[in-house]
Amino acid sequence: MINGERTIRRPLRWGMIGGGRTGQVGYKHRTGALRDGTYRLVCGAFDLDAARGRDFGVNLGVDADRCYADYKELIASEKAREDGVEVVSIATPNFTHYEITKACLEAGLHVICEKPLFFTVAECEEIERLAEKKGLIVGVTYGFTGHPLVHQMAAMVKKGMLGEIRIVDMQYTHGFNSGDDVGAGEAVKWRTNPKTAGATFVLGDIGTHLYYLSEVVLPDLKIEKLLCDRKAFIPTRAPLEDHATVLMHYDNGARGRLWVSSVNAGNMGSQRYRFVGSKASIEWSDSHPDQLIYEVQGEPNRTLHHGMPYLEEESLAIDRMGALHTEGLGDSWSNIYLWIAQAIDAKNRGDEAFLKTHQYPGIKAGTEGVRWLENCVRSADAGSAWVDFK
Ligand code: NAI
Repeated sequence: MINGERTIRRPLRWGMIGGGRTGQVGYKHRTGALRDGTYRLVCGAFDLDAARGRDFGVNLGVDADRCYADYKELIASEKAREDGVEVVSIATPNFTHYEITKACLEAGLHVICEKPLFFTVAECEEIERLAEKKGLIVGVTYGFTGHPLVHQMAAMVKKGMLGEIRIVDMQYTHGFNSGDDVGAGEAVKWRTNPKTAGATFVLGDIGTHLYYLSEVVLPDLKIEKLLCDRKAFIPTRAPLEDHATVLMHYDNGARGRLWVSSVNAGNMGSQRYRFVGSKASIEWSDSHPDQLIYEVQGEPNRTLHHGMPYLEEESLAIDRMGALHTEGLGDSWSNIYLWIAQAIDAKNRGDEAFLKTHQYPGIKAGTEGVRWLENCVRSADAGSAWVDFK
């Protein structure tokens, strides 16, 4: 169980780029980072609007002279300080991730970046080489993959409790973009423009969460080929999609399907996963994150609850609230931030042995998400053809 006791030598000096007052995801980063005494927020370039960003940062308790107008000023000013920032989180629109990550790594800073990580696999691989050369960590914030029941699912699969995996069925949908974008806010505008979002809208925005979570639960399954069908129900969003279906063939013969949509009108279900094996199935949804449905063929169905002693050690070790009390998204983010802090601490100490076995969403997780997107787009652009996964 995680109880807030410090697991690294001292708090990391942490800064934020983006995630300002009007940003959607910024508070999730702060919820994750500021929980266990592993990070101390010392600076930020929180906002495109410098004055608003400074005001916001001061309200968060950051010194006014360390609330910067932009990331370049942050890097230059912090470098000049003995107590300068060591790790920054990037919570800005997609098109800025690559440029800001590269500049931060070149300045010797560890980076925690939002998904989808970059626009292309080539960019991801370049950044991986740069991070390696500089001895720095790049973490990626796939929000719900720190949840204890996600790791319960992974442990059950590993133990063979499901048998051979046959079917992977995933959904991440909502209806917030069911209407047109007239008068839409900034977060919708940049998401529906290929120059600022990249080659996808909902596939990158929410589909990458499904894909990474499936990699955590099923690390041995590799996609051999896939077919992606995508559509913009609101035509002004084309060539980007507000709805997509992806079929996948895995190397063990398993079949997968997922759908992502922001035009699933009225739907508040968010993410849902069902993994079916030859003996049993498991099903989990973030709308009821405390519960995991476990169905063994021929037996009464069971509902497993987080924090209960009958769960696997891998799940109990990362539980925070204990059974009976809701364990949710904030707790999951805290685990992800904790694991990334432990990776940074190990990197700083040169403890490569620890890093070899330490699990956290890092540069490879970010790269694989972008690789999956590239394959989806290749398939969709070929008229929803089956393509070999490259
Ligand atoms: P948003 O548009 O709501 O907020 C962006 C924030 O960044 C604003 O505060 C804006 O002023 C600031 N900003 C923009 N450009 C900047 C720059 N160059 N320098 C400094 N600040 C800048 O966007 P949202 O929804 O918060 O998304 C940000 C990123 O987070 C995206 O990559 C998105 O895909 C990802 N995201 C991830 C989630 C997750 O669960 N991991 C959930 C929501 C978004």
